[in-house]
Amino acid sequence: MSNKVCRVGLIGAGSMAEYHLKGFRAAGADIVGIVDQNYEKGSAFAKKWGIPGGCFSSLDAMLRSYPDIQAVSVIVPNKFHYPLVVEALNRKLHVFCEKPPALNAAEIQQMADCAEKHNRRLMFNLNNRARLDSQYVKQMARDGKLGRINSAQATWMRRTGIPGFGGWFTTKAISGGGPLIDLLHMIDLALWFMDYPEPEYVLAQTFDTFIDNPEFQGAWGGIVSTSGTTDVEAACHGFVRFKTGQVLSIHNSWAELVKGEDTFVALQSTKIGVKIRSVNNANTCELYEQENGISKDQTLRFMNDHDMGRTHMPENFIRSLNGEQEPLTDAAEAVKLMKLIDAVYLSAKTGCPVRINGVACEPL
Ligand SMILES: NC(=O)c1ccc[n+]([C@@H]2O[C@H](COP(=O)([O-])OP(=O)(O)OC[C@H]3O[C@@H](n4cnc5c(N)ncnc54)[C@H](O)[C@@H]3O)[C@@H](O)[C@H]2O)c1
Repeated sequence: MSNKVCRVGLIGAGSMAEYHLKGFRAAGADIVGIVDQNYEKGSAFAKKWGIPGGCFSSLDAMLRSYPDIQAVSVIVPNKFHYPLVVEALNRKLHVFCEKPPALNAAEIQQMADCAEKHNRRLMFNLNNRARLDSQYVKQMARDGKLGRINSAQATWMRRTGIPGFGGWFTTKAISGGGPLIDLLHMIDLALWFMDYPEPEYVLAQTFDTFIDNPEFQGAWGGIVSTSGTTDVEAACHGFVRFKTGQVLSIHNSWAELVKGEDTFVALQSTKIGVKIRSVNNANTCELYEQENGISKDQTLRFMNDHDMGRTHMPENFIRSLNGEQEPLTDAAEAVKLMKLIDAVYLSAKTGCPVRINGVACEPL
């Protein structure tokens, strides 16, 4: 019998589950069951997508019916990533988990330790890494074509983009925070291009202007409830200096008076400058060079990349487990990402620059 990973379960039948299912199937895996605490929702999803086992109330119940499941996807609100990932790893399953990896660095460190202890793969849906333009830029960086990246800007700003106003996204105890942690993709992308340097200092500020104003609700999340909780930030701006001398600025918002949604990473490198931007699912990559006194710019368009890598990433999880591709994410980088997020929130809370030293993160 083949050792290939080909029997997978899903946990969570929400908005992202369809992408996971399509990605796993594209890699040749069978989805045998789905867990959701909302039985009707999980059953409807199973029926729509032809999942033979249907919906289960817990991972334990699914594994009792299908003990040969080799991997699961965790696609539930952020607070439940940690307990479900740890439970699955302890059951000797490989795990693909939605972003953010966890609510904070302490949780993701324990998740990573658990994966190492059981020798299981733990990957995250940092799906923008799987976009065609991101792959192109990463390959340029690997090939040394960019030179050293001195500075980067990571931006995901929305004018009216509060997801699920008054629902779990805007409830800190469940989401971990607002746009900084929800829209962490561009931060991850910039760090990935820079080879995840060690941060040293962070200075940041969050703002809650408009966070309780339903006029600023976006398309995601669905729920509109003026009596629901809205205790997260509406915007976050910050600056990071790395031990290497590189720097990164961060601009994330759900609700700010800007022209409209803007999602990009810009890199100022020693050989070629880069800006990749996702607009209406058509991604562009601008390249800036100086050659013999001439400013030479190119714009590459990546047209058929409709879902921001959301299908390619789960496909990569299965294919990398089966030795067909290199894994696009790993738990060690997820730990670094969450340490940086923790430091940004600490700086905003204390009003002080924060020094990150190994595991410690302290206001100066
Ligand atoms: N990568 C992306 O582009 C992207 C986009 C949106 C959301 N997300 C992430 O996906 C995750 C899920 O978000 P969503 O929008 O699908 O949420 P959702 O609210 O649409 O769906 C969540 C589902 O999980 C179920 N659920 C909740 N807690 C559970 C538990 N403990 N056990 C079993 N089922 C449980 C709910 O009943 C629901 O069906 C979040 O972590 C979110 O940050 C990622």
